[in-house]
Amino acid sequence: KPCIVLGAPVQVGAGRPGCDMGPSAFRTAGLLTELRNLGYSVEDRGNIIPNSLRDLRHPNSMIKALPEIVAWTEAIAEAAYQASGEGMPIFIGGDHSLSAGSMTGLARRAAEEGRELFVLWLDSHPDFHTLETTTSGNLHGVPMAYATGLEGFEGYFPALAAPIKPQNVCMMGIRSVDPEERAALRTAGVTIHDMRAIDENGIVALLDPFLKRVAAADGVIHVSLDVDFLDPGIAPGVGTTVPGGATFREAHLIMEILHDSGLVGSLDLVELNPFLDERGRTALLMVDLVASLVGRRVLDRPTQSYRYT
Ligand code: ARG
Ligand code: MN
Ligand code: MN
Ligand code: MN
Repeated sequence: KPCIVLGAPVQVGAGRPGCDMGPSAFRTAGLLTELRNLGYSVEDRGNIIPNSLRDLRHPNSMIKALPEIVAWTEAIAEAAYQASGEGMPIFIGGDHSLSAGSMTGLARRAAEEGRELFVLWLDSHPDFHTLETTTSGNLHGVPMAYATGLEGFEGYFPALAAPIKPQNVCMMGIRSVDPEERAALRTAGVTIHDMRAIDENGIVALLDPFLKRVAAADGVIHVSLDVDFLDPGIAPGVGTTVPGGATFREAHLIMEILHDSGLVGSLDLVELNPFLDERGRTALLMVDLVASLVGRRVLDRPTQSYRYT
């Protein structure tokens, strides 16, 4: 199946501008060439155009750019639905609000095919605010709450064709959670591995049970990779750096195991802010991680097998 690259230069969901340059930076960093060198056929569909704006107001006056994010969500969801019927969609952002569209479009496709969609959420943040609870008002903080069907998005964001089961979501790298998110996550049923869990158990012990569950359900995984999952020391090109993130080796190991699993169907690359990057190093690292995800190996040697299917 071909890789289908879709740019989503949305930036008004983040607190500071710059993510609209993300798709260009991913292309400049060689994303397409890297995929082709690994033997994939690749189709670059260019950048998605948001739908037209509607007049939407919400009682929470902190919320920023609601009409814009809704217009993006509609267009991205449609593009995700289409592309997932044809190949492996790779969304290059753009801030994390784009995942409101990608996840819901992919969930609609999976439901139609009678398959379960699972999400591996690699982020320092759970992005689990609702429209009522966000205090920053930055809508990159809400996509996971929306896609899993939490209340309060009705009448603003598009109605969900198929909410993602919270039990199908696994978060890794979490280390910055607002009080309202923490309360909501207590009962949501989402699996959360914070940085302490990674330190204490290591990647393999945490990822393996999730992949087993996906395989047992004959599911497909959407990977949503926020740049701030990574430690700021290796990935400075993001507006919301949080110290103590995933290392280069942890991140690559996740990608390699995911490749071996054969369970990944789609990918978001989000929150890259080229204005804050240093000579493209964050963009290059993200492209490098994609290469591991799609099968780049260091040596032709037998490795520990993580095939689940
Ligand atoms: N929880 C914070 C907020 O709602 C940070 C969200 C950061 N999200 C992101 N996708 N970087 O403002
Ligand atoms: Mn995020
Ligand atoms: Mn984040
Ligand atoms: Mn591999």
